[in-house]
Amino acid sequence: KKVVLSYSGGLDTSIILKWLRETYQCEIVTFTADLGQGEELEPARQKAEMLGIKDIRIVDVREEFVRDYVFPMFRANAVYEGVYLLGTSIARPLIAKHLVDIAEEVGADAIAHGATGKGNDQVRFELTAYALNPSIRVIAPWREWDLQSRTKLIEYAEKNQIPVPRDKRGEAPFSVDANLLHTSSEGKVLEDPGQPAPDYVYQRTTDPEQAPDQPEIVIIGFEKGDAVSINGETLSPAELLTKLNELGGRHGVGRLDLVENRFVGMKSRGIYETPGGTILLVAHRGIESITLDRGAAHLKDEIMPRYAELIYNGFWYSPEREMLQALIDKSQEFVSGEVTIKLYKGSANLVARTSPYSLYSEDLVTFEEGSGTYDHHDAEGFIKLSGLRLKTWAARNKRAGR
Ligand code: ARG
Ligand code: SIN
Repeated sequence: KKVVLSYSGGLDTSIILKWLRETYQCEIVTFTADLGQGEELEPARQKAEMLGIKDIRIVDVREEFVRDYVFPMFRANAVYEGVYLLGTSIARPLIAKHLVDIAEEVGADAIAHGATGKGNDQVRFELTAYALNPSIRVIAPWREWDLQSRTKLIEYAEKNQIPVPRDKRGEAPFSVDANLLHTSSEGKVLEDPGQPAPDYVYQRTTDPEQAPDQPEIVIIGFEKGDAVSINGETLSPAELLTKLNELGGRHGVGRLDLVENRFVGMKSRGIYETPGGTILLVAHRGIESITLDRGAAHLKDEIMPRYAELIYNGFWYSPEREMLQALIDKSQEFVSGEVTIKLYKGSANLVARTSPYSLYSEDLVTFEEGSGTYDHHDAEGFIKLSGLRLKTWAARNKRAGR
């Protein structure tokens, strides 16, 4: 028997590794993704080797992540519950896809992940796996074992020669998930939403109050809905997001303190830092504002919450997400041009936009005399007919004494 395990190299997944082998008597293949979480991955290899793993996969998926998941999602301006940029949600399908691919390659019976039985991540991993391989088995140790307390986990580690770093002996102060798009922090010291998050929770953004006193101007180039350059320099998707993270992080852009509704039913409080993504969203909306027709733009905005919820709930690989994606991608044909953003003490404000495909007509909108394509008299009939039913409604209300 063989199992492909999503392995970070941390204490919890190392315990999972031992527990899987003991419980299922299986051979284990580990998969560790470099998603730009900013952690050394060599230690993960050493640890897996030390735990006796023969087949260790460490893959740099940063370009794939941004190109095939983050960018398509940003074409939709997707935000969950008005504000969350889905940084964890969008990474899960990619990880699960790799687990399934490796399982097929090595002839494994199952994949395993380290998400708990209370969260969204288990759902995302597993729905993705089933959508990509209907006969795959998924093992979720957190839902099976009885190591529910920190003490039990540490005991188990010590009994099994898994090194426990000194700072892991006590409770971790909170749970972190990081990648190129965001860093999320949840749990423990953050569990009371009535209390502000302590400063030390923030890991990749400057406190806006401490950010530079000088604003910084960034010019982002777009091609068919995707960002392709910064200040005139063409960059790959992952390079571009990395650069935006640097700029946004320095100016304290993209912090969010949110109570959200998890798919499994409870509310949870999270602290999110999405510096580059926050700039990208503003920039993308900016370039769309001059290149999308009103009907197209409003239709996109209507379906956006639905699309975002699908991603949040783990349905990236689903027929309806693919249908919505086709609609969104079609809308991006002419979403090309340049946007100028000003970064200053936590804000990313759009200050200018240009496009060779702009629909904006200064001649049409000007307060001065235009060239005559717009006839003011047309507006009179337009308003009369639009108002006809309102007059009828008002007259009825009057009769009824309202
Ligand atoms: N609440 C966020 C989401 O569901 C972040 C989840 C963080 N996951 C984690 N394993 N720490 O997308
Ligand atoms: C977890 O429970 O593993 C993390 C939080 C989540 O998935 O929502």
